[in-house]
Amino acid sequence: TLTVKEIFETMDYGPAPESAADALAWLVDQGARFGHFINGEFTAPGDGFDSKNPATGEVLATLSQATQSDVDSAVDAARKAQAKWSAAGGAARARYLYAIARLMQKHARLFAVLETLDNGKPIRESRDIDVPLAQRHFYYHAGMAQLMESELPDREALGVCGQIIPWNFPLLMLAWKVAPAIAMGNTVVLKPAEYTSLTALLFADICRQAGLPKGVVNIVTGDGAVGEMIVGADVDKIAFTGSTAVGRRIREATAGSGKALTLELGGKSPYIVFDDADIDSAIEGLVDAIWFNQGQVCCAGSRLLVQEGIAERFHAKLRARMDKLRIGNPLDKSIDVGAIVDPVQLTTISEMVAANTAGRMHQAQVAVPERGCFYPPTLIEGLAPSDALMQEEIFGPVLVSTTFRTPSEAVELANNTRYGLAATLWTENVNLALDIAPKLVAGVVWVNATNLFDAAAGFGGTRESGFGREGGWEGLSAYTKPKGKTKALEKVTGFSGDGAPVDAVDRTAKFYVGGKQTRPDGGYSKAIHSKSGGLLGHVGLGNRKDVRNAVEAAAGAKAWSKTTGHLRAQILYYIGENLSARAGEFADRIDRMTGKSQGAQEVEASIQRLFTAAAWADKYDGQAHGVPIRGVALAMKEPVGVIGALCADEAPLLGLVSVMAPAIAMGNRVVLAASEAYPLSATDFYQVLETSDLPGGVVNILTGRHAEMASPLASHLNVDAVWSFSSSDLSAMIEEASAGNLKRTWVNNGLAMDWSADHSRRFLEAATEVKNIWIPYGE
Ligand code: NAI
Repeated sequence: TLTVKEIFETMDYGPAPESAADALAWLVDQGARFGHFINGEFTAPGDGFDSKNPATGEVLATLSQATQSDVDSAVDAARKAQAKWSAAGGAARARYLYAIARLMQKHARLFAVLETLDNGKPIRESRDIDVPLAQRHFYYHAGMAQLMESELPDREALGVCGQIIPWNFPLLMLAWKVAPAIAMGNTVVLKPAEYTSLTALLFADICRQAGLPKGVVNIVTGDGAVGEMIVGADVDKIAFTGSTAVGRRIREATAGSGKALTLELGGKSPYIVFDDADIDSAIEGLVDAIWFNQGQVCCAGSRLLVQEGIAERFHAKLRARMDKLRIGNPLDKSIDVGAIVDPVQLTTISEMVAANTAGRMHQAQVAVPERGCFYPPTLIEGLAPSDALMQEEIFGPVLVSTTFRTPSEAVELANNTRYGLAATLWTENVNLALDIAPKLVAGVVWVNATNLFDAAAGFGGTRESGFGREGGWEGLSAYTKPKGKTKALEKVTGFSGDGAPVDAVDRTAKFYVGGKQTRPDGGYSKAIHSKSGGLLGHVGLGNRKDVRNAVEAAAGAKAWSKTTGHLRAQILYYIGENLSARAGEFADRIDRMTGKSQGAQEVEASIQRLFTAAAWADKYDGQAHGVPIRGVALAMKEPVGVIGALCADEAPLLGLVSVMAPAIAMGNRVVLAASEAYPLSATDFYQVLETSDLPGGVVNILTGRHAEMASPLASHLNVDAVWSFSSSDLSAMIEEASAGNLKRTWVNNGLAMDWSADHSRRFLEAATEVKNIWIPYGE
């Protein structure tokens, strides 16, 4: 008889292929030619292109390339269906989402096989990950629809959402987009990626079977040109997942259109292994991090950082493990690594690797099928942080690595990227893990695990990985807007005149930068008059250089983000008290500048805003999401960073305070351009700040022309978000300029904000970024 060891050593996997018969039969049933799914029906197939199985090269079906008129009909159908769908109520919508989830579950195997045929991913993955997670998203959001009226009473649907998704998780990305959108009462026009549209078309059939009202879900197929048509169409929102380059173009294309936008883009996520890690687990984790879906994963742990002491042993084990990976027929249940999605992507990967001359390369010593799109698991060790392959997203089964000595060096290396999607860290030391996790610039952090996803935990990135979250409560704000009608904002201009100074002394107000009053770089100033033409004072005109100085001061005041909510609350209360002590003086000034008697009310409301922000400073907490995995996802609220804001013209003090208070309460530093029409309340406010223990650089205030300061603020790489409530319409300019580093924007698009109402929650949300930290927890 054989010993266990002998069995283990002689045992080999036999192939265990899943049958493609049912999926191929389904394609044949559909005539193997597909039109679009518009207004609840499939259209007649038009001119199109072939969809191929990347593992074999065989044609699976012919898809139609949508024309402008197809896209228009889809948007029309979605528009016509939207009001009724939204009015039906959350409970009614929940039943449809639930029915869709049930039907997806019923046809789970068909979905999984079709996905594997179309995309090339191993059947184990489509069966155990993609398809169950897609169902889970519909179940979860059926619940969100159910709870919408009670839990989000102030929010309503955005309208029609254009959704463009990539080819790496075709059905799952569809679920991430469609489920929250329709749960909240939106209707959608979705475009799957041209390589992988088949499961989306099967999903369309499921919508029909579920009796989903016509027009709620519309699916059009085609390439990037169709994506562009959707971006340009009469939709209220664009949700995009794909490459950073295309995301940036969409940001530019939608600038100033008033369309809401969320972007989930690329990454170069670090995978950090400390010397006390459970090495075998960390190696298995890497298999999931970079060889899951052939590395074609936006949050792939593609940059390995190993602590020096264990680096040699770790890499040796890793190479040995790579040589045991099985690559081949994706329908074979014992396959680890399947096919690359398309020959084009295979070429991209091969060329990127071939162009690299740095480091040492190891390619898995395994049999790679000669036919089909396959690329061997690859490791490139010993790269420098600046090497192209350490910075560029490869989007293939290629891992790059380097080493570090200390935890702080690990953090520095990890954050040395223009992306900020995900990060993984391995250590047996809970103190170290929870010390490092908050320091990583990423929307998602996994501790002692990797590539975990669940509908209850938001997913999304920072920096050039895009903005917005999908999943969880935070994901819902991407598909809703505050209820209520909005009015057009009128351009506000100050008074002109040539009267005598109203006060005996004529002072020229400076800027407030880095806690000091500074002179304008350009040396220009502007006179501010009262309604009767009297001279109220002069203010400086900020230019590009002044903006840069203010941003530098704000960037330097990093320590503020690490202070406690309690301390920030104390300082905000103090600012409120100091303003209160001078209420009369501030009220007079506002009345003189505006020629109205709004001052007293504005000052009182400003004091309330400060106190409200102080109240929230230590209460706007994150959440702990229960996830159906042995762990908990801590949804931590972090400050966005440096926020630049063009303050409302019509409310000289309240407009500034309403922006500043919640932003600094959450730990941000701000650069504020005061009301252009009535700037003197802002310059008077310096004295209040100076006597309130606020560290220098946390709040920086400039005066001058909004149009001149907007562009340097919006294009500055050290600014993380730009908000504009200016009455000059700068929305298009700001959104376009923001595309450089893909900073967050909040612009008014010419719509008025009612400053007398308390919008603190909206400001708190915009002032924070949710980071989901997955930690082991429970059994
Ligand atoms: P892509 O960004 O071009 O494609 C994603 C989706 O956008 C597809 O549906 C495509 O048809 C559509 N699209 C393309 N051009 C568009 C445009 N101008 N306007 C609107 N929609 C447009 O990604 P691609 O070319 O397939 O892959 C290239 C690289 O992008 C990959 O190598 C990878 O680095 C990255 N990528 C990242 C993904 C992620 O999940 N973060 C997913 C797919 C690709």
